Amino acid sequence: MSVDESAESGARHVAIIMDGNGRWAKKRALPRAIGHQRGVEVVRRLVRALEPMNLDCLTLYAFSSENWKRSEDEVDDLMNLMRRFIKSDLAEFVANDVKLKIIGDWRSLAPDIVGMLEDALQQTANGKQTLAVALNYGSQNEIARAAAKAGAIGEITPQSIAAQLDTADLPPLDLLIRTSGEVRLSNFLLWQSAYAEMLFVDTLWPDFKPEHLSRALQDFAQRERRYGGR
Ligand code: IPE
Ligand code: IPE
Ligand code: MG
Repeated sequence: MSVDESAESGARHVAIIMDGNGRWAKKRALPRAIGHQRGVEVVRRLVRALEPMNLDCLTLYAFSSENWKRSEDEVDDLMNLMRRFIKSDLAEFVANDVKLKIIGDWRSLAPDIVGMLEDALQQTANGKQTLAVALNYGSQNEIARAAAKAGAIGEITPQSIAAQLDTADLPPLDLLIRTSGEVRLSNFLLWQSAYAEMLFVDTLWPDFKPEHLSRALQDFAQRERRYGGR
């Protein structure tokens, strides 16, 4: 199937746990940082291929609130990659009508990154397709924050919590993909996944191609969603 045909999948919101950069590098006896670099290139190619896929939103797990446990060097590499990515790709996002959104506790990142992100959010505010990037994101923390806000305003209900989640303005999650063969959620979109379809693929993230996403959408189109009914 070509990238174009995936427009019929019916999916509006797909999220990806981009995993396997380290193992990709290890297999080639390369530093983990090279795996992360290749991972960013995959994101770039995916965003370029997004338009014909007809998705309203692609959400990418880029850095978890637990990833701070990694070595200082690796965290520095990841933060520098983030800086470089925003600098080099922002103009392209604007040109391609991509609206950036950040979820997670991103305001506690380094002040220069926060500034760059605020600028990027402003510059891309009128974009058509949303690229949501999860930065310093942890789902349990997101739910706790949302519940606290909901409680401060009024009654705590599933609806009032959902309205306070970082993803409140995004369409419901249709499909959650994780690469690299790991079969777990690692604190990603726990609330939003309640009725999302799941797809776990063995491909390591640096090997992931837009065609893999097209295939995932084709797979999604075959699923029968029941939401507990019948
Ligand atoms: C995913 O790749 C990137 C981030 C978590 C930032 P990993 O770095 O987790 O790669 P593996 O899981 O060690 O192969
Ligand atoms: C999840 O991957 C986080 C991101 C992809 C950003 P991890 O590699 O951090 O997850 P675990 O540690 O294998 O669960
Ligand atoms: Mg990993």
